Amino acid sequence: MTSPRKTYIIANWKMNFTPGEASLYLNRLSNRISPSRNVQVVLAPSTVALQPLSLQINRRQFKLAAQNFYWRDYGAYTGETSVAQIRGFVDYAIVGHSERRYVFNESEEDIAQKVAAAIRNNLTPILCIGETALERKDGETKAAIYSQLTNGLHEVSKEDISKVIIAYEPVWAISSNKNAKPAKPSDIAEAELIIREHIAKLYNKQTAEDIYILYGGSVNADTAGGYLDIPGIDGLLIGGASLIADSFCAIVETAKGKNK
Ligand code: 13P
Repeated sequence: MTSPRKTYIIANWKMNFTPGEASLYLNRLSNRISPSRNVQVVLAPSTVALQPLSLQINRRQFKLAAQNFYWRDYGAYTGETSVAQIRGFVDYAIVGHSERRYVFNESEEDIAQKVAAAIRNNLTPILCIGETALERKDGETKAAIYSQLTNGLHEVSKEDISKVIIAYEPVWAISSNKNAKPAKPSDIAEAELIIREHIAKLYNKQTAEDIYILYGGSVNADTAGGYLDIPGIDGLLIGGASLIADSFCAIVETAKGKNK
């Protein structure tokens, strides 16, 4: 019997919470979110909180993800933290988030190397892709998605592609953007098809059907259910709403209700 397809609910806490606050918040979530076989809840705290939280979590209940890391394993890279240094604390690694691409000027090559480093260190990379408002206005959504997938996955072999999760996060829908507006389910459904179509070209049809695709951008407790109903969307990557226990727990409950 094949195991059921999981739903991922991933909290990207971004640069919020001290390690002490993160620990208290985790405690609150632990009391309210019970372990589930079908819904995988993943928390992505700041790097500085990864070790203490990894000692605190029940791994049947939550897994941890890194928000960022450098792709070389060791060496003279002042100020950086490698995936080899944090792999004992986390199971997942967010790569290519738009805030890393556009605030920190991460290149496609950096992103490809990070995806490869995560796989080399036995972590699951969550590769974030998504067009900007300008690309969308210019009718370049498909080209942007194709290019980010081609470049971001260029180090990933046929054997390893099943280890990658894709998160579609249109930049214009992320709440940190000045003029953010929520994406319509039809926008997301269209992007999901574009992603699977391109994965089929880069790998094969079966891989395209199997790969997990998440959505992220202004998801809250009211909209989560509608986004989870989009065929082919396997979960959510949540920023702002993941910082509020009531909202985040409600989103997890919604996901559990839909994937029994
Ligand atoms: P918001 O949910 O705050 O829009 O953030 C989305 C995001 O960037 C998750 O990685």
